[in-house]
Amino acid sequence: MTLPDVNKQWTTAQDGLDKLQFTEGKVPEPKDGEVLVKVLAVSLNYRDTEGEPTTQDTEPLVPCSDMCGIVVDSKSPKLKTGTRVMSIFNQGHLTGQITEADMATGLGLPLPGVLTEYRCFPAEALVTVPDYMKDEEAACLPIASVTAWMCINGMRPLGQPADGAKKKETVLLQGTGGVSVAGLQIAHAAGLKAIITSSSDEKLERAKKDLGADFGINYQTHWEWQEPVLEETKGRGVDIIFETGGARTLRKSFECVSFGGLINCVGYLSGKEDEDAPGAKQLNINVLALRRNVTLRGILNGPKDRFEEMVRFYEQHKIRPVVSRVFKMDEAGDAFTFLYSGAHFGKVVVKVADK
Ligand SMILES: NC(=O)c1ccc[n+]([C@@H]2O[C@H](COP(=O)([O-])OP(=O)(O)OC[C@H]3O[C@@H](n4cnc5c(N)ncnc54)[C@H](OP(=O)(O)O)[C@@H]3O)[C@@H](O)[C@H]2O)c1
Repeated sequence: MTLPDVNKQWTTAQDGLDKLQFTEGKVPEPKDGEVLVKVLAVSLNYRDTEGEPTTQDTEPLVPCSDMCGIVVDSKSPKLKTGTRVMSIFNQGHLTGQITEADMATGLGLPLPGVLTEYRCFPAEALVTVPDYMKDEEAACLPIASVTAWMCINGMRPLGQPADGAKKKETVLLQGTGGVSVAGLQIAHAAGLKAIITSSSDEKLERAKKDLGADFGINYQTHWEWQEPVLEETKGRGVDIIFETGGARTLRKSFECVSFGGLINCVGYLSGKEDEDAPGAKQLNINVLALRRNVTLRGILNGPKDRFEEMVRFYEQHKIRPVVSRVFKMDEAGDAFTFLYSGAHFGKVVVKVADK
């Protein structure tokens, strides 16, 4: 295959979404053990929009972590040219508990990311795409789906995911962003009961009609959404919560989690800091956790072996990740703004190239 002279890519100096640059670099050459990947599609994650303007001089970095691409040159016996692959977010996290060293291998910060036409990867830091999945769909898996998979299955032994469990568990998804929608798809396919919240009745209808959500609550019109959750579960509460809201939702989650339930601390879409002024009466998280004997678990994506376990499940159930909108490569700046606006349902994707 003839490679182009230039490698078009987006870069950011972490100084705000409006300052992304569409630039040109060199097409890199793979070293031993690496493969050169032609990037086909990239999905965006909330973290990619977070680059808070900094006053420090920061070297421009290619953003984003989640891509589907095709191997065009291989210096590894593990991956052949022509194989479609997905990136894993933390390139060094191949199995078991994540470590600080693994977290230093995150794509799109601190490592250069994937919003580029060509990139080299160590062969072991890639996962093969199942044949039935389109490029744009596969690009959605690395962060959103793997995180959702870990929320539902991360406490179970590898190889024994929730669909084999005797008890029909209930899952609560907050909002209809990338992680929640992937969680809904996995929960539904695994036969779990799924309750979802959203600020939009239209999105709730779609979650029920298209993706099999059992119950939906509009958190704008029912701000005390923990009450309908408890009613819907006949007072028992929810077994597994995707806590993507954070500061303004965590206390509600504690109110509607089941005894012995699992709150997966995933994100902070409603804020990172408690709103209450100092001195206000507020139960400490520690107390909230122990009073219902809840497992409060921090989630940091998942390892490659769990990613592969998930891909087998997706393949078995032919799950197609939900792509809200696809942008062209030269429109990636608009893709970030669209994601940040929250207008999406599922994932936002940048189409980088055709095969
Ligand atoms: N720990 C990890 O490994 C990990 C992995 C992935 C993501 N995250 C974090 O998890 C969070 C979600 O990520 P994502 O990629 O799914 O984001 P996303 O796609 O940008 O999700 C945005 C959606 O979340 C919903 N939302 C916004 N504010 C909310 C609130 N106050 N309460 C409930 N829902 C709210 C909205 O849904 P509606 O429009 O339906 O209201 C919004 O459209 C982010 O904070 C992200 O940084 C963490």
